[in-house]
Amino acid sequence: MREFGEHYLCLKKQKKADFTKTSCVLRRLTLEDKDEALALHRVMSASANPETFVPGTDEDFLHILEGAGVVLGVQEGKRIVCMRTVLFQPHDDEVLSEDMGLLPHQMKRMAFIEYCVVHRDYRGNNLQFLTYYHMENLLWEDFDYLYTTVSPRNIFSLRNVMDCGFYAFQLKERYGGYMRYLLRKDLKHSTSIRTKRHESVLLHNYSAQQHIMEKGKVGYRLIRSMTGTRMAFGALTK
Ligand SMILES: CC(C)(COP(=O)(O)OP(=O)(O)OC[C@H]1O[C@@H](n2cnc3c(N)ncnc32)[C@H](O)[C@@H]1OP(=O)(O)O)[C@@H](O)C(=O)NCCC(=O)NCCS
Repeated sequence: MREFGEHYLCLKKQKKADFTKTSCVLRRLTLEDKDEALALHRVMSASANPETFVPGTDEDFLHILEGAGVVLGVQEGKRIVCMRTVLFQPHDDEVLSEDMGLLPHQMKRMAFIEYCVVHRDYRGNNLQFLTYYHMENLLWEDFDYLYTTVSPRNIFSLRNVMDCGFYAFQLKERYGGYMRYLLRKDLKHSTSIRTKRHESVLLHNYSAQQHIMEKGKVGYRLIRSMTGTRMAFGALTK
């Protein structure tokens, strides 16, 4: 995997009703960052609602830091304020048994986007979006497909993930009973999605979305409407 280096960012940091500008560094985290990284992981885990986000255990996180994947982090001074993790092999076999529409040799070229967390004070800097593209650049040579899951109730994350080019191919219960979109991005096989006769469904209407996906359509864009946010579906063409 290629070198990553250090990338300087000037971010806004929320302070009650005001904000300040602060300089931060985006870089790849290693085991030397374990204490600071675990501190953010634990803060985010403590406040996580599994309806929207399941962060995994400390052990899962350390496993990635130890080399089972990659962790990118944004640091202000010593403090880590954002992390993005990717796994080379999923923690649970449930993922591998999903029908991803890929052949076994293609599955070997898939990486698993785990999570992105941003400390509350630093939200609104597009860090989920930005760190995704840096991660894609790191993974490019070794992987052809990326997989992730997002809750239909995690609208901030869903919007960012879809803006990064992922499409939703299933909506089902995961992590012991919480609804999640399963999303994929094909890095090198230029997927096209027919949008001409698209149909759109409110995000909370799970059964209608599942029905559309069973017919082979995929969710490719979020649309704001008077009645709520809708997912637009189109047919995947090879
Ligand atoms: C999802 C998440 C990573 C997005 O953070 P981000 O990259 O800073 O978000 P964006 O820059 O796209 O934010 C866009 C706007 O939404 C707001 N926003 C983002 N996440 C928010 C949240 N969880 N609650 C309330 N507002 C939020 C931002 O403040 C910003 O508002 P602004 O335009 O008025 O400044 C962050 O909300 C988070 O860490 N959530 C908890 C963990 C999680 O759900 N991770 C995703 C699943 S892996």
